[in-house]
Amino acid sequence: MSNQQFEPFYDVNLTYDDNYRRGPFGLFAQALAGDDSPAEGATNETSAAGSTAISAESATAASVLGFPVNLPFGIPAGPLLNSRFTTAAFRLGFDLAVYKTVRSRAWGCNPFPNVLAVHPKAADGSLTPGSPELDEGVLADTRYDLPISISNSFGVPSRDPDVWQPDMRDAIAAAGPGQLLVPSFQGSRVAGMSTDEYIADHVTTARLVCETGAQLMEMNTSCPNEGHNRLLCHDPHLVGRITEAVKNEIGERPLIVKLAYFPSDIELETMVRETVGRGTVQGFSTINTISAKLVDASGKQALPGEGRDRSGVCGNAIRGAGLDMVRRLSAIRERLGLDFTIVGVGGVIEPEHYLAYRKAGADAVMSATGAMWDARLARIIKAAIDV
Ligand SMILES: Cc1cc2nc3c(=O)[nH]c(=O)nc-3n(C[C@H](O)[C@H](O)[C@H](O)COP(=O)(O)O)c2cc1C
Repeated sequence: MSNQQFEPFYDVNLTYDDNYRRGPFGLFAQALAGDDSPAEGATNETSAAGSTAISAESATAASVLGFPVNLPFGIPAGPLLNSRFTTAAFRLGFDLAVYKTVRSRAWGCNPFPNVLAVHPKAADGSLTPGSPELDEGVLADTRYDLPISISNSFGVPSRDPDVWQPDMRDAIAAAGPGQLLVPSFQGSRVAGMSTDEYIADHVTTARLVCETGAQLMEMNTSCPNEGHNRLLCHDPHLVGRITEAVKNEIGERPLIVKLAYFPSDIELETMVRETVGRGTVQGFSTINTISAKLVDASGKQALPGEGRDRSGVCGNAIRGAGLDMVRRLSAIRERLGLDFTIVGVGGVIEPEHYLAYRKAGADAVMSATGAMWDARLARIIKAAIDV
């Protein structure tokens, strides 16, 4: 089935800069222009899968990290490039909107294209962490079939703080009642930088985020930052040092850490102990994309350029991995008797997936790819669970 029904709010056929300047598109653009009714409450829409009301969620307002939210559902770091995107998300009923990861300095984007559709071999389109398919090659092309799985390869671009700070301030101001803007940031490792300087860069960026009036923030530790495919989150000790320094800077504001998938419970528990256990972190958002070798129909590298033989896969393919990670993190939370928030991310494209994450232990749920391909997703979920 080809997806012609909805125009994604991020246009994968345009460059990142064109999306930043001209976006968002489709229903998001209509919401900004005022052509779409605001988000409050449920609408009478039913899901694309034909679901009617699924009861399981209390209709009373929830709270996330002490902030009231209508429904703990939204869009994670990435697809909401600036305040026009986050404002449109709020208007369409996404009550949590994460402002795309910012840096202490301007940072360029990987060359176009940045998104391709991916087609795992399994009949249900899933990719399992550790499976040989991830190293042998997953077919990637421009056939955006549903249920949607994509790869994204941006390199975490950022505007200069002079540009993103005032824009983030506008984004925060546009949240309606029961809605929350979550800024995302990360450190930038440049050639010749010592570990102390790398830590200091995180602190500087967190301070710049505080200056926008942010009440909380998310720190991304799940994108390659120390060379090909090495993730900061797989060094829990360093994350512990960084979050301690960041927490000293941001004070009482809650700090969420964005994690990639962890294959090992021991490593995951170490992460929890090094952060939550030391009082520096109040929540985790997980998962980010799963790295796979991407090939075209003739088996050649699908994305052009050096260092781009592998790329992160998200959407339908990674839901099983996301649920697995949330279940294991929730079990660790219970076992250690610690109190922290879990934001479940990965492959949410239907109301059932929202509920599955909640059942697995997520306090809040987010969808990047699913929301990009169906801007009605928050409304569909609210209608289905009768909130
Ligand atoms: C277009 C795009 C850009 C992304 N950029 C970021 C980013 O800058 N920072 C980040 O922490 N995650 C980023 N992500 C990852 C998402 O936040 C999310 O963890 C991942 O896509 C899995 O969720 P999904 O299956 O709902 O897409 C991005 C994802 C997409 C689709």
